[in-house]
Amino acid sequence: MEFLGNWKRTDYCGNIDENWIDKEVTVMGWVFRRRDHGGVIFVDLRDREGLLQIVFDPTINADVHQKAEKIRTEYVIAVRGVIRNRPAGTENPNLRTGKVELAVSELKILSESLPMPFSLEEGEIEKVGENIRLKYRYLDLRSENLKNSIIFRHKISSLIRNYLNNKGFIDIETPFLTKSTPEGARDFLVPSRLNPGCFFALPQSPQLFKQILMIGGLDKYYQIVRCFRDEDLRADRQPEFTQVDIEMSFISEEDIISLIEGMMAELFSGVLGLKIDLPLKRLTYKYAMENYGTDAPDTRFDLTIKDITGCLSNSQFKVFSDTIKSGGVIKGINLKKLPLSRKELDELIEFAKDLGAKGLLWVKIQDDGWQSPASKFITDEEKREVEKIFQTENGDIIIFVADKPKLALFILGKIRVMLGKKYRLYDEKTFNLVWVTDFPLFEYDEEEKRLVSVHHPFTMPKDEDIYLLEKDPLNVRAKAYDIVLNGNEIGGGSLRIYQPALQKKIFELIGLSDEDAEKKFGFFLEALKFGAPPHGGIALGLDRIIMLMLGKESIRDVIAFPKTQKGTCLLTDAPSPVDDLQLRELYIKRILPKQ
Ligand code: AMO
Ligand code: AMP
Repeated sequence: MEFLGNWKRTDYCGNIDENWIDKEVTVMGWVFRRRDHGGVIFVDLRDREGLLQIVFDPTINADVHQKAEKIRTEYVIAVRGVIRNRPAGTENPNLRTGKVELAVSELKILSESLPMPFSLEEGEIEKVGENIRLKYRYLDLRSENLKNSIIFRHKISSLIRNYLNNKGFIDIETPFLTKSTPEGARDFLVPSRLNPGCFFALPQSPQLFKQILMIGGLDKYYQIVRCFRDEDLRADRQPEFTQVDIEMSFISEEDIISLIEGMMAELFSGVLGLKIDLPLKRLTYKYAMENYGTDAPDTRFDLTIKDITGCLSNSQFKVFSDTIKSGGVIKGINLKKLPLSRKELDELIEFAKDLGAKGLLWVKIQDDGWQSPASKFITDEEKREVEKIFQTENGDIIIFVADKPKLALFILGKIRVMLGKKYRLYDEKTFNLVWVTDFPLFEYDEEEKRLVSVHHPFTMPKDEDIYLLEKDPLNVRAKAYDIVLNGNEIGGGSLRIYQPALQKKIFELIGLSDEDAEKKFGFFLEALKFGAPPHGGIALGLDRIIMLMLGKESIRDVIAFPKTQKGTCLLTDAPSPVDDLQLRELYIKRILPKQ
């Protein structure tokens, strides 16, 4: 067992270059590679900043060389010696330290390591299953790729903090042990030992607290904050994730939009050296839905959706006429010259059906007319009208979906994104940021048979639509905006209601009784009555932004300790069963047998 004692590190391994030649240095780190070249032992010693080649030469110190024979991969060692040039022809131009090496005269073996469950070499580690990498996250963190992502994340957060600090924002922490918040996912609950039978909820976002901070007069708030949502997980969703949460007083939608545009421009130029053209493009929700089939459109490529209901309203094709009669629509996309074979068209039909389509019709526009399973049911005039809408040329393929408007758009939106990716219809290195504005305030929830808020119930309706609240609530637009990067929602926000009467009205419309509103948000409704300033804000999904900037497939790749798709932590084995005693203290009874 050896101790560090009074050894001090001269610098990181990765920082030692020609400037250190002939100087004595002390470096410490992990044994990345070890090569025994008949007598002389070479080690690539690694720390956070990089690799340094160190040499154990028996002619320099025979005892040290003998000790070095014990060294294995991922042992932690400290070495001292003189820096010298590598022999000509053995330099490594890819490393900052590639021209030099350390001739070791003293060695301490500080920690041994078990044989590694996987190699950390680039090219090797990528082949290792994700579960094993998550279990040994501390080893994965030593890999170049994950380490760099974590450092990148730090750079992004620092830039964000600097940007907001310079603009007069105050970083304020809000509670984790709190009441249920209104983002619409399921809550994680925490039982209160001191208040038997009562539970805290972990915040889905600091929404109400940041509004209360505005009522408290703090004017400009931000926080890089963990949020908790018990929802089904996907590559871009974690049960705990990080928001850049912002709220401001006495502002308009434009103030938030330009604040965030400035921030995004700084992030892209600061860490990727890319210039973002401002102002960003804006699409209304309606336009995004109708043309891209989603409120998070990827506008890097075309293939937009068109409506051809009008051309086919008297169609002899029963699928179409029946759909239209029952209030449905026919929408389609001109896939242009995408080289889809018959087999691929059949696969596309299956893809659409898996998404809930009743079918999908394709048409190949050919010199001698339409080739399509429905060709003979569609008149020449109808064909001409359809061709006009899609601006077809010979050789184009069009696809149609007839269904309820929402479903038809959803299916075509998914097909569009799938084809865009499959046929690489965009440059993967480009970044495309757009705003989606003019969201509806409500949507109708078929299952619950009531209106629900599209954002959350504190969102302000547009002044000019307020008169529609009673008679046509689904056509009321909100002062809400989302920011979208390459087809991914990376942030959303709104101006908030600051008048208690309007807030009460909105609760009524979403079917929240006075009593329930009082129970859930009474503290907030009361706060609104003590001089609430006009205010609004936004929250950005930090994990998603970093994932997209780094071109990663999952936010798990940019979080130091992420959960699996099943919401578990393979490193700590959480969640895990607890003792009966612990449960009793919390007044909780087990109804499932102990695992
Ligand atoms: P919203 O619910 O849209 O808004 O969340 C803001 C942003 O957070 C990201 N996000 C997630 N990222 C990873 N995993 C998740 N489970 C997850 N859920 C959301 C998204 C999203 O755009 N309080 C409001 C904001 C406001 O009105 O100011 C809110 O939380 O990128
Ligand atoms: P069918 O009459 O069900 O055999 O369908 C004839 C063709 O129309 C097939 O190519 C189906 O995929 C297509 N089709 C069926 N239903 C729809 C629909 N709702 N929208 C678009 N195409 C459909």
